[in-house]
Amino acid sequence: MDQSGAIDNLLQEERVFRPLPQLVIEANVNPQELEGARKFAAMDPAGYWEEAADELDWFKKWDQVLDDKDAPFYRWFPGARCNIVYNALDRHIETANKNKLALIWEGEPGDQRKYTYFELYREVNRFANALRSLGVRKGDRVVIYMPPLPETVISMLAAAKIGAVHSVVFAGFSAKALRKRINDAQAKLLITSDGFYRNGRIIGLKETADEALVGACADCVEAMVVVRRCNIGVDMVDGRDFQYEDLVRQERNEAPTEVMDADDPLFLLYTSGTTGTPKGVVHSHGGYMVGVHRTLTTVFDIKPTDIFWCTADPGWVTGHSAGIYGPLMAGTTSVMYEGHPNYPQADRLWSIVAKYGVTIFYTAPTMIRMLMRFGTQYPKQHDLSSLRLLGTVGEPISPEAWIWLYKNIGRSECPVLDTWWQTETGMFMISPLPISVLKPGSVTKALPGVEVDVVDRQGNPVPPGKGGLLVVTQPWPSMMTGLWNDDDRFKEYWSQIPGVYYAGDVARRDEDGYIWIQGRADDVINIAGHRIGSAELEAAFGVHPAVCECAAVGVPDQIKGEAAKAFVMLNEGFEPGDELIKDLKKTIRNELGPVAVIKSIEFRDSLPKTRSGKLMRRVLKAEENGFEIGDLTGLDED
Ligand code: WTA
Repeated sequence: MDQSGAIDNLLQEERVFRPLPQLVIEANVNPQELEGARKFAAMDPAGYWEEAADELDWFKKWDQVLDDKDAPFYRWFPGARCNIVYNALDRHIETANKNKLALIWEGEPGDQRKYTYFELYREVNRFANALRSLGVRKGDRVVIYMPPLPETVISMLAAAKIGAVHSVVFAGFSAKALRKRINDAQAKLLITSDGFYRNGRIIGLKETADEALVGACADCVEAMVVVRRCNIGVDMVDGRDFQYEDLVRQERNEAPTEVMDADDPLFLLYTSGTTGTPKGVVHSHGGYMVGVHRTLTTVFDIKPTDIFWCTADPGWVTGHSAGIYGPLMAGTTSVMYEGHPNYPQADRLWSIVAKYGVTIFYTAPTMIRMLMRFGTQYPKQHDLSSLRLLGTVGEPISPEAWIWLYKNIGRSECPVLDTWWQTETGMFMISPLPISVLKPGSVTKALPGVEVDVVDRQGNPVPPGKGGLLVVTQPWPSMMTGLWNDDDRFKEYWSQIPGVYYAGDVARRDEDGYIWIQGRADDVINIAGHRIGSAELEAAFGVHPAVCECAAVGVPDQIKGEAAKAFVMLNEGFEPGDELIKDLKKTIRNELGPVAVIKSIEFRDSLPKTRSGKLMRRVLKAEENGFEIGDLTGLDED
C-alpha cells in the first residue's frame, strides 16, 4: 500500500514555503497569537468559542456554551436567540459598512450588478415580505434551484430572515434529483429562474423545475417564484407561479428579522453518502454563524479593504459558508460570477480578478488543473497584483497544481491556503493561516478550537507517516445539528468509531504534525470537488432496463481529480455497444443531472462480491488504479 503512486508522491514532497515578513506583520493573527489561541482552545474549548460568539450580535445570550447531555446531538449556545441574517446584513446598516459594496456580480455575457450592504438589505427585506405574503412561515422549507445570481443570495437571506429553512439545489441536478430533495424536505415553496447563461448558451431552468413538481409530494410546493434572468418566455401556472420582479416591486423596504433559537434550523443542504439516498445536512443559526465567522475571518485574514472571491456555486456548502454567509458576516465585499470559467476564453477568471481588484481568491483544485492546461499565457495578460491570498478546497491539491497556482497566479508571494472541511462541518476545520509555514499538498493543522486525529478502525492514533482515518475528536460550533428526518444515519457519524466524528477521509500526519488528506475512505466519489455516492450512481444505472447489476467507482482523472467509471452487467437479451453506452449515460443525466459525469462504462459478465454478496468496489478500483487510494493496509476487515 505504501508503495502506491499517490502516497509516494506526497511522501516525497518536502518543500516548505514561508510567508513574506510583511504578511506576518500585517496579519490579523500573528504566530504567537495563533499558538496562544491553540493553547487556550485546547484548555478551554467552550471559553474559546464563547469569545468567538461574543464577536457577533445576539438578541439574547446563551445559558451555556455547549450542552453535551444528549451527545452526539450536541447543542451549541442553548438558550440564546439570534438570526444569522442580523449579523450578515442588519447590523452593517448601523455602521460604515452601510454604503460599502456587499456583492459584485458578473453575468456570463458580461453584465454586472453591484449591491451595497444597504441595497442588499432592502432587497432582502422586500423579498422577505413577499415570502411572508406567500404564506411562508418560520420553520417552512424553501427550495432554491438557481444558478449564481444576486437573487440566489437574496432568496437565501430572505428565507433565513423570516425563519424559514432554505435548501439550495445546484442547478446541475436533474428534475428527478430536485424532486427527491423537494419531497424529502417537504418544501413549501420553490424559487428558480427562467434560465441562466452557461458557456455561451441559455440553459432553461423553469421547465426542469416544472418537471420536478410533477409527482412531487401532494402537500408540498404550493408556490413557485421565478426570477427573470434570460428573458426567455416561460409557462407560468396561474395561481402557483409568481414572477420575482412583480412580487418585490410592491413590497416595503423594511421587514422584521425573526428571532430564532440558536439551534433552530437555518438550512438543509443535501450531500451524498454511501447509500443511494442523499442526506439532508442541517445547520442552525447560532453555532453555524459562530464557527463560520471565526474561521473565515481567521483563515482569510479579512481586512476592510478586501475583495473576496469564492468561485464555488451557492449550491454547495462552500458557496454557503465562504461565498455568502461568511463574507457578509465579515462585512467584506464579495464577487460572484454566473458562468463558465472558460467563456469566452480561458482567461475569464483572471479578467475578473483584474477588473475588480480581487485580493483573496478561493477556488477548487479541479479549477486550477483545468486552467493549468492553458499554460501561463492567460494569467500573464492580466494584472493580478491585487491578489494577496489564495485558497483551495474540496479535494486534495497535488503539489504540482499548488506550485502552479502559487507561482503563476500568486507571484510566489501569496500563500495558498488549503482548507479541509465538509458540508457536515459547516466551517473550515483544518487549514493554514497566512502566517503559516506551508507544504504544498498539506492542509497543515487543525484550526484553534478544532481537535482532529488520524486513527485506525478501533480509534487508536496511527504513528506519523502512516495512513489512517481522519476523525474530529471534539464537537465544534458549526457542526451539523442533524440529518433531516434521519437521526439514525446522523448517529452513524459518531458511532463508526465510538465517541468521535468520522469524516470519511483517509489522511496521514507527518513528523511535523502536518496533515495530508489522501481521499475518501468510503464509497463516495469526489468528482471535481463534488461528492457523488457510488450507490447513488448504481441506483441510477439500475433504472435502465438493460442493467442487471452495476458497480460505480472513482478512477483518477487529470482534470476532475476523480471521475466515475461504471462496471455494468447486462440483462439477458441486451448487447454491449456504443449505442447502449450513450443511452446509459442519458439515463444518468436524466436521473441525476449533468453534475454526475460518467467517464467510462465497461461491460462485465460478473462483478466481484464478498461471500455475503456485498459488492467489492475496492477490488475494481484497485484494478483501475493499480492501487487502492482509500484502502488502508491493516485497517480493512473483510
Ligand atoms: C474533500 C466541501 C482534500 C474531502 C467543503 C471531504 C478535501 C469532502 C479538502 C467534503 C481539502 C474537502 N483537501 N480533500 N482541502 N476539502 N475535501 O461536503 O474528501 O462537498 O470529505 O465539502 O471533500 O466535501 P463537501
